[in-house]
Amino acid sequence: MQGQDTKIEIINFDLYHKGEIGINANLITTESVVKNYVPKQIRDEIPTLNRMGYMKTDIDPFSQEYIEYSSSIDFPVLELGCAYGAVVQKVLEKGGRIIANDLSKEHLSILFQQTPKRFLENLYLYPGAFPNEIDIPNESVGAVLTARMFHFLDGAIIQYGLDKIYKWLVPNGKLFFIVVTPYHAAIRDGFLSVYQERVESDIKWPGVIKNQWEINPDHKEYVPPYLHVFDIPELQELLPKHGFKIDKIKLFDYPNDVDSGNKGHVGLIATKV
Ligand SMILES: C[S@@+](CC[C@H](N)C(=O)[O-])C[C@H]1O[C@@H](n2cnc3c(N)ncnc32)[C@H](O)[C@@H]1O
Repeated sequence: MQGQDTKIEIINFDLYHKGEIGINANLITTESVVKNYVPKQIRDEIPTLNRMGYMKTDIDPFSQEYIEYSSSIDFPVLELGCAYGAVVQKVLEKGGRIIANDLSKEHLSILFQQTPKRFLENLYLYPGAFPNEIDIPNESVGAVLTARMFHFLDGAIIQYGLDKIYKWLVPNGKLFFIVVTPYHAAIRDGFLSVYQERVESDIKWPGVIKNQWEINPDHKEYVPPYLHVFDIPELQELLPKHGFKIDKIKLFDYPNDVDSGNKGHVGLIATKV
């Protein structure tokens, strides 16, 4: 996807019946004609339209495994907070069936219009805020990806959300999960020491930042004031409490992101047990 000020039409989602796993994209016609633009790419990312950060154009190793996994199973997969759907497109190209969720109907409209027609029958659009506005049947998806979206959620919502994901996954289903860490170059100077002190003092949810605009002023135009970052030990404690066994967990940097010493994001793959 290019992110080159492309003119798009916004889908009027209210015209369509939302089935159990969303609206099948094959049924959508673009009779709704609100115009909008895909913002231009900055470095390795495209800003969101709702000030919720950026969508990466590079595919990280965890999302790559999700893409491969999606084509190896018979169940549909779900992506939460997919933005314009860079990963969704790769899943479709590999032959997977995917439910694409995002808070922003505009993002999903852009995804729809950039999806080749031959893939539409395998694409389900599910706009809404995770976890409260999403309800798909229990044991209906083989894998869930959430990349760089959970760091907008508070602790209680995260716990509720993990329990929902657990229910939606088939037995032995997989969760692929990526969030920002306190080591990311954009926030470490203003926040890492605070995080470390909170961990030392055993404070719950030590990664909650309420003043991101102060500590990360360069990104103020594109991000909310709230950010909730995580390190490996916290996730290792959290996931098993919600029924997941962690298969793999690792700090990493995206190849074209600012240099955070290979520690700017944490990714994990976990199995529903
Ligand atoms: C930083 S972008 C990440 C996009 C992409 N997953 C990536 O990793 O590049 C966060 C996306 O999550 C969406 N989002 C934020 N909160 C959400 C929520 N509660 N439920 C669903 N989507 C949400 C935003 O609209 C935005 O498109």
